[in-house]
Amino acid sequence: MKNLRSMITGGFLVATVATIVYSCQSAVKETKEKETSVLAVALLQVDTAAIPNDKYGEAVRYGQELMYNTAYYIGPEGINGKYLGNKMNCTNCHQQGGTKPFSFNLMLSHEDYPQYRAREGHVLTLAERVNNCVTRPHNGRPLPLDSREMVAFLSYFRWINSFVPKDKPVKGIKNLSVALPDVAASPERGEKLYVQHCARCHGAEGEGQWRADKVTYTYPPLWGPYGYQPGSSMHRVIKQAQWLKANMPYDKATYDKPFLSDAEAMDIAAFVNDDSRHHRPDVKNFDYPHIIEKAIDYDKGPFADTFSTAQHKYGPYLPVIDYWKKKGLKASY
Ligand code: HEC
Ligand code: HEC
Repeated sequence: MKNLRSMITGGFLVATVATIVYSCQSAVKETKEKETSVLAVALLQVDTAAIPNDKYGEAVRYGQELMYNTAYYIGPEGINGKYLGNKMNCTNCHQQGGTKPFSFNLMLSHEDYPQYRAREGHVLTLAERVNNCVTRPHNGRPLPLDSREMVAFLSYFRWINSFVPKDKPVKGIKNLSVALPDVAASPERGEKLYVQHCARCHGAEGEGQWRADKVTYTYPPLWGPYGYQPGSSMHRVIKQAQWLKANMPYDKATYDKPFLSDAEAMDIAAFVNDDSRHHRPDVKNFDYPHIIEKAIDYDKGPFADTFSTAQHKYGPYLPVIDYWKKKGLKASY
């Protein structure tokens, strides 16, 4: 991780990518979709060396620090404030500080908010959206909207957004898609796969592995009292499967060469998110005030359709999607 970070910091990655982009340029116009997407993905890079040396740049730099070392600054024993309930870092999910393609990439967020959010049933600012992640995956209390930390996060998001090409489509902001199987995702099958592919880093009990200084983790926890909580998007089976496909196992998967099959990613996500086996921080969520807008893989009722809680949680999802299609509505997930 350190190596990668210093590569980014040194602008090395940027230079490599620029070469790829340049050498592809003449062929771009009539290339097939696949090649175009490679080019577009390559363009989603930032050059840390280009952060300006002024007050704004100072905020951007602190924002970047917060993305990578969240627990150190604002964790339960944070040196600049105690906000998070656990010692995970934003970059554990938004990898490479939110700039890695297909890893819950944050490079469009600055221009995409304020935005209507179905989960809250109203329009959220980007600052409020940041606080959703502070309170849910991090099980913490919200940052004051005018805190130095919130201003730093927002400055950083504005800055990474400035590297998004305005005249070309970009790839890697949305998740990789997974083909939804005809059968329900299975925690039982997922458990076997977890032991094979995940436990060596995240632990047999999903507890992760501490970094030597215990400020944070080398391998973050997946469940237990210090993992993300049920109201988090990572707790949804389809959403997690999409992310796993592009990103895990950490040392084997890349978005252009996934390691897990779609069905395997679904089964593992089902196992990781099976709260009947795995303890998680206990929270009460009052989400989706308009239940017709509820994401189909959200596992708390009431539901506006006729499917069971189990089917919402594990699928099969195709009948649910069909149900909504027949009503002229698009199922969200
Ligand atoms: C356990 C994983 C996890 C952690 C840790 C996490 N997030 Fe998120 N975050 C998500 C998921 C999942 C989404 C929704 C992505 C989607 O729907 O495709 C999200 C969405 C967001 C968004 C909205 C993006 C957009 O453009 O709509 C922002 C901003 C954000 N997170 C910021 C943060 C910050 C800042 C931190 C650290 C304080 C953080 N997140 C920690 C999983 C996480
Ligand atoms: C080689 C070690 C390694 C393996 C194997 C591995 N991971 Fe990870 N995983 C990581 C690291 C490191 C991170 C944090 C990434 C970062 O900070 O950039 C992570 C992050 C995650 C996260 C988001 C953060 C969190 O704790 O919620 C999830 C979910 C996850 N891994 C699931 C899995 C699953 C499921 C598997 C098996 C398919 C797996 N991982 C295999 C190292 C590994």
